[in-house]
Amino acid sequence: MTTDSSNAAKPRAASGQAMWGGRFSDKPAELMQAINVSISFDRRLASQDLEGSRAHAAMLQNTGVISSEDAAAIQKGLGAIGEEISAGVFPFREEFEDIHMNVEARLHELIGPAAGRLHTARSRNDQVALDFRMWVREACDRTHVQIRALQKALLAKAEPHATTLMPGFTHLQPAQPVTFGHHLMAYVEMFGRDASRFADARVRMNESPLGAAALAGSPFPIDRHQTAKALGFDRPAANSLDAVADRDFALESLAAASITSIHLSRLAEEIVIWMTPQFGFVTLTDAFTTGSSIMPQKKNPDAAELVRAKAGRLLGSFTQLAVVMKGLPLTYSKDMQEDKVPTFEAFDALELSLRAMAGMVTDLEPNRDRMGAAAGAGFSTATDLADWLVRQLGLPFREAHHITGAAVKRAEQIGCDLPDLPLAELQVLEPRITHDVYKVLTPQASVASRMSYGGTAPDQVRVQIQRWKEILA
Ligand code: ARG
Repeated sequence: MTTDSSNAAKPRAASGQAMWGGRFSDKPAELMQAINVSISFDRRLASQDLEGSRAHAAMLQNTGVISSEDAAAIQKGLGAIGEEISAGVFPFREEFEDIHMNVEARLHELIGPAAGRLHTARSRNDQVALDFRMWVREACDRTHVQIRALQKALLAKAEPHATTLMPGFTHLQPAQPVTFGHHLMAYVEMFGRDASRFADARVRMNESPLGAAALAGSPFPIDRHQTAKALGFDRPAANSLDAVADRDFALESLAAASITSIHLSRLAEEIVIWMTPQFGFVTLTDAFTTGSSIMPQKKNPDAAELVRAKAGRLLGSFTQLAVVMKGLPLTYSKDMQEDKVPTFEAFDALELSLRAMAGMVTDLEPNRDRMGAAAGAGFSTATDLADWLVRQLGLPFREAHHITGAAVKRAEQIGCDLPDLPLAELQVLEPRITHDVYKVLTPQASVASRMSYGGTAPDQVRVQIQRWKEILA
């Protein structure tokens, strides 16, 4: 390519040569370009890039590093670029490699040589660390809001079902009766911890890398506290090397996102199971189901299945970034450009999953009859019988457990459930058993008896619903 000194401050095609091409006499190979270019994905950082640049320019002006005239021109140009971006007319160009150089090149086209002063005391290393950190911060905030919305949907569904019986499972075998409200509230707790993980991550992430420059800081009299404050950070990052090299804010957020997606996938799986005709515990309307192109009778819980599957994407994203970062020497390496795609994809998938799950939770209706019948089946009140033997007859629990096991076996032989086993049969096993025992053998009684803090008794469930209502208000 020709060298022409008058081009020094102009944006130039062929990988933004004007930005870093001073010592180069040839342009990069096409393949170099192809592997290097990131504008196709880091264009999603456009608004953060502009915000960061505006704060940086204002600080350069305040500290006298650039003149007020240049600063004004830069602000005006960045404002115009912001409008182009919102209007969808900003020219994102591959030849300028990434979002940072695209913005700077466009700024040059709009305001001329003053554009070249914006990058004083800054490097793309602290610039991208800043932009990406702000993007992740916003994503965490959005996610927090969406988790809260899902919790509200769960709460709204739990409240009318604080007494609705369902079987509680262990090993997916009927264990003890619980209430549907109690079951849903278990997820409110899980998502509550998820929300707090995002809030925690935000606190740690909220330090500004801007002003770390390439890696070592800047010889200009910059004010990193000013830019940190202007951009909503608690403080500037205290070590310039760490500031440009760290991506643990993204990893931590992806870890929180992965755990959230695991919780979502468990609820999704339960919906899939509950929706089967064999269970028939809940129905989803046509809004959240699909049909089959060949089997007319089908009503498939595709949304739940997809939420279940998105966990794969989320966990994959965490792994992707963890492997990119593992073993990287300080400070910046181009490997780190690969931080964005997994993070963007993870949050896209998570946000969609959270919204779809909130929609399904609101949509689903439990089938009280099916759930109630299932709650009493499978000898689900066997523990209640054993507890009665302990409380009323003073038997050691192990002995009570043994007698109850024998009662279950007898009921199985006769082909009845525990509440229907004749007293005479029970008395064969333990003669002191009285008719009083039947009071504890219904699923309603079983559930009502579990009054321990956090237990499934409707009164306890209501206490927790009230507590969460206040938290989420
Ligand atoms: N596009 C780059 C990234 O996403 C920006 C930083 C480039 N820095 C550099 N030293 N080449 O990481």
